[in-house]
Amino acid sequence: MTAIVETRELTRSYGTTLALDHLNLEIPHGAIFGFIGPNGAGKTTTMRILTTLLTPTSGEAWVAGRSVLREPLEVRKVVGFMPDFFGVYDSMKVWEYLDFFGRAYGIAPNRRQSMIGELLALVDLSHKREDFVMGLSRGMKQRLSLARTMIHDPALLILDEPASGLDPRARIELRELLKELRALGKTVMISSHILTELAEMCTHIAIIERGKLLAAGDVQTILRSLQPHRTLEVRVLRGVAQAEALLRPRADVLGVRRASAPATAASEDTTAVPAANVPEKDAAPAGEQPETLLVDYSGDEDSMGELLAALVGSGVTITRFAEQSNDLEDVFMQVTKGLVQ
Ligand SMILES: Nc1ncnc2c1ncn2[C@@H]1O[C@H](COP(=O)(O)OP(=O)(O)O)[C@@H](O)[C@H]1O
Ligand SMILES: [Mg+2]
Repeated sequence: MTAIVETRELTRSYGTTLALDHLNLEIPHGAIFGFIGPNGAGKTTTMRILTTLLTPTSGEAWVAGRSVLREPLEVRKVVGFMPDFFGVYDSMKVWEYLDFFGRAYGIAPNRRQSMIGELLALVDLSHKREDFVMGLSRGMKQRLSLARTMIHDPALLILDEPASGLDPRARIELRELLKELRALGKTVMISSHILTELAEMCTHIAIIERGKLLAAGDVQTILRSLQPHRTLEVRVLRGVAQAEALLRPRADVLGVRRASAPATAASEDTTAVPAANVPEKDAAPAGEQPETLLVDYSGDEDSMGELLAALVGSGVTITRFAEQSNDLEDVFMQVTKGLVQ
């Protein structure tokens, strides 16, 4: 995938406030790109520069190979921007609203008519065509606003906090809509200060704070890079000591401890298991308790499979083998350390 957006050392100050600090960003063609950061991080500033509404103090940015500084009119043709506020168009009907923007973009009347029909169908508002904008729910206004950003069929959609203030149902509808846009070949840049709001809908994410990029890449890569090792939970029904003996010498195993034991003192002595941890009757030989091992692990998923095969192959009985989940919210907290400007 080549980049549809590229920024190089993009910097913007407002007086003494440094809103963007040498930001280098790349958005691949066809991505759903989540731009995440706390309030005041510089998300809107970046988006306004990419849509040519604001000029950088220094640095450069390109959209579809066009410079936002030298070819702003070309950039505007390929970008649709949905700002974080809706604006006031209350005395207009839904179709008039789209028609107004269609005219502003110089789209011919018959093309405009068909486009309005297609877009209203896409955002599921065909039945509201003759309604006044002011009578729409917040979710509907958001979808109408999205339809408006697409009136000139841009390749890149930049949506500033579209999910904020939406109820869960409207949020799900938004997610579905993003999938459809992706299927249409659009690239979408979408911002939020709430990571979980975006986690499931994005293919790539960038985390920004105080105008600086903290992390960027495809979702899996980011998770991996911020998480030097994973923790495996291995439930051993029979053969705990054998499992530990097999795990410990491995280079990809950083540590093994029993879930029942204090974190520092992993005991080889099975009789040390607290009495409360009563084994299933007849499940294990006398004297052996089922045990959950927590394995700090640096290998990839392939070697995880191989590790499981080795354990089972050596006669250890395993009833659970899973990675402890480290979700995006944890990663976000880890990366941003809760700093808010
Ligand atoms: N027009 C402006 N004048 C002065 N400061 C601004 C202006 N717009 C944004 N800022 C400041 O720039 C920083 C980044 O703001 P913004 O890009 O809106 O962040 P975000 O969208 O991530 O919340 C903040 O510190 C904000 O207060
Ligand atoms: Mg903002």
